[in-house]
Amino acid sequence: MTKVTVCGAAGGIGQPLSMLLKLNAQVSQLALYDIVNAAGVAADLSHINTPAQVVGYLPKSKDDKDTIKEALKGSDLVVIPAGVPRKPGMTRADLFNINALIVRDLVANAAQACPQAAILIISNPVNATVAIAAAVLKKLGVFNPRKLFGVTTLDSVRAETFLGGLIGEDPASLKGKISVVGGHSGDTIVPLIHFDKTIAAKVKALPEQAYKDFVHRVQFGGDEVVKAKNGAGSATLSMAYAGYRFSEYVLNSLANKEIPFSIPESSYVHLLGIGASSLSQKLGGPEFFSVPVILRNGQVQSSLDPFSLVQTEQEKQMIETAVKGLLTSISQGTSFVEGLK
Ligand code: NAI
Repeated sequence: MTKVTVCGAAGGIGQPLSMLLKLNAQVSQLALYDIVNAAGVAADLSHINTPAQVVGYLPKSKDDKDTIKEALKGSDLVVIPAGVPRKPGMTRADLFNINALIVRDLVANAAQACPQAAILIISNPVNATVAIAAAVLKKLGVFNPRKLFGVTTLDSVRAETFLGGLIGEDPASLKGKISVVGGHSGDTIVPLIHFDKTIAAKVKALPEQAYKDFVHRVQFGGDEVVKAKNGAGSATLSMAYAGYRFSEYVLNSLANKEIPFSIPESSYVHLLGIGASSLSQKLGGPEFFSVPVILRNGQVQSSLDPFSLVQTEQEKQMIETAVKGLLTSISQGTSFVEGLK
């Protein structure tokens, strides 16, 4: 019996992500919470012939504090894509004021209704909203750092796709052979691709500018989608795929399934809390960083030191740049919660 709750389930990401979760036979209960249209999405998905029982949860009024708790109660996995997306000209940081409050409140409810659940944060800016979630969980005395994940999988998905196109490899074959670490915004995103000898040789054969363009595209690929959607939001379908990919990784670990890839998925996690404080020190002190994580039973069992994957001076420098940006975002998230009663 596995219960998954999606908060923000009627949104651009929430709907296709909920559909993918409905297709996973391991999910027995799928709770879809949103402040709009939750019942409609749930009724629609409930007709798909897979085992998951789908229930929609829509608050009855602005003051309704019970419906969200009912949705979350007993969840093993909570996925949060609730909030506002970017419009052209906005950075992820511009979303902070609105999404910070949404994430704070949803996570506070999860802390009470399902303190044992793995929580996946998709709402941007991930670099800061995960720090908010951690601070809320700490305040409520139920912070298990091994179960709090910032979803950065879309950066890996993009890196695999763009690099595959560049070096003539099937992008799916690059899963586990390249790794994206750091954060989830602009130059905090660090693709590491030189540790696999075959890939390194193919990249070396490219003009230097092609590698630079690749890095830029991974870091700012989200802007391509925001621009193309022209005011209608940011990545939703590719994000739903990526969010599902990480959710499936958590679900597989709950079912003790083998991970068939050499380098596992990365996630933006609390380094000190997952037993990687020496890495935090080596990096210059960020509390959170996206690193490859090995999961067991829905939580981080161990992580890989990204420096073990770094092969070039450029990759090392990108990590240094990422840390600078992350320190600011993390302290913004933490002080947001500390400044509240
Ligand atoms: P959207 O606007 O289409 O959907 C958001 C949904 O959240 C809406 O249905 C809305 O009603 C709901 N919502 C708002 N406040 C809520 C609350 N308090 N409780 C429950 N639901 C609530 O936005 P979209 O495109 O689905 O994006 C959602 C978030 O995901 C944004 O913050 C966006 O920036 C982020 N995102 C993250 C990515 C990542 O790689 N981590 C990639 C792309 C987007």
